[in-house]
Amino acid sequence: MTEVITSIQDMKRLAHDFKHDGKSIGFVPTMGALHDGHLTMMRRSVKENDVSVASVFVNPLQFAPGEDYDAYPRDIEKDTKAAESAGIDYVFHPSVEAMYPDEIGVALKVGKLAEVLEGAQRPIHFNGVVTVVNKLFNIVQPDRAYFGKKDAQQLAIVEKMVQDFNHPIEIVGQDIVREDDGLAKSSRNVYLTEQERQEAPALQKSLQLAEKLYREGERESKIIVEAVTAYLESHTSGHVDEVAVYSYPELVEQHHIEGRIFISLAVKFSKARLIDNLIIGDEEID
Ligand code: PAF
Repeated sequence: MTEVITSIQDMKRLAHDFKHDGKSIGFVPTMGALHDGHLTMMRRSVKENDVSVASVFVNPLQFAPGEDYDAYPRDIEKDTKAAESAGIDYVFHPSVEAMYPDEIGVALKVGKLAEVLEGAQRPIHFNGVVTVVNKLFNIVQPDRAYFGKKDAQQLAIVEKMVQDFNHPIEIVGQDIVREDDGLAKSSRNVYLTEQERQEAPALQKSLQLAEKLYREGERESKIIVEAVTAYLESHTSGHVDEVAVYSYPELVEQHHIEGRIFISLAVKFSKARLIDNLIIGDEEID
């Protein structure tokens, strides 16, 4: 039976007791609206740890005014049932008042890693993400924490934060989980119109085209970016916000493909900006 914990003190006490008993804690931070991508990470956490905690907290700090903070889907009962089906022991669901009782006095600021891709579009976003993740790590005290590779920039930034702040936590990157037609699972897919939903698998198809070009020997980013952009423009009604090739995890734009890189794309539909990526290179992110 999954227990919902709303009090920070209770969560800290539980974590302390598990640590004291030598039990490992797995942690899946989420903003709710759970889908198979989250549940895959939760099942993995359950398999790899003695105790598993998932947080459900829509973090106001990572939304700029005018973004979808108010509209973000919230249904704690449904999320708890889903987490329970994945075997999660505790859902940590604090209120905004509990997490941020006063005006924030000290917050974290991400450097260069947040100046590109999503960070360039949403300047305060990753500062809000690392601030809340840092707080959640201090409260839940996990041994392992699970993040999706769909948000590859977030994963790179959290890994750097853990390194810079000496958190004794292993960050585990989870492969992108997709719908049957290839659309990457995302809580924001519900914002798509019927027509856009039909077009959205084109995001993965454009990345498959990029992979084919790469496998055939193409190493010029420009050629791959142009092919992906043309595919997206002819197969979706969305606006192609960005297609680019970056090194991973340094997130430096690459003109020539060498070593571990990822091809990142963002398409803006009427109410949702969808992202997807493909990691190519010598090693995988794990
Ligand atoms: O990826 C998310 O859902 C959020 O950015 C996270 C990591 C839960 C922090 O609020």
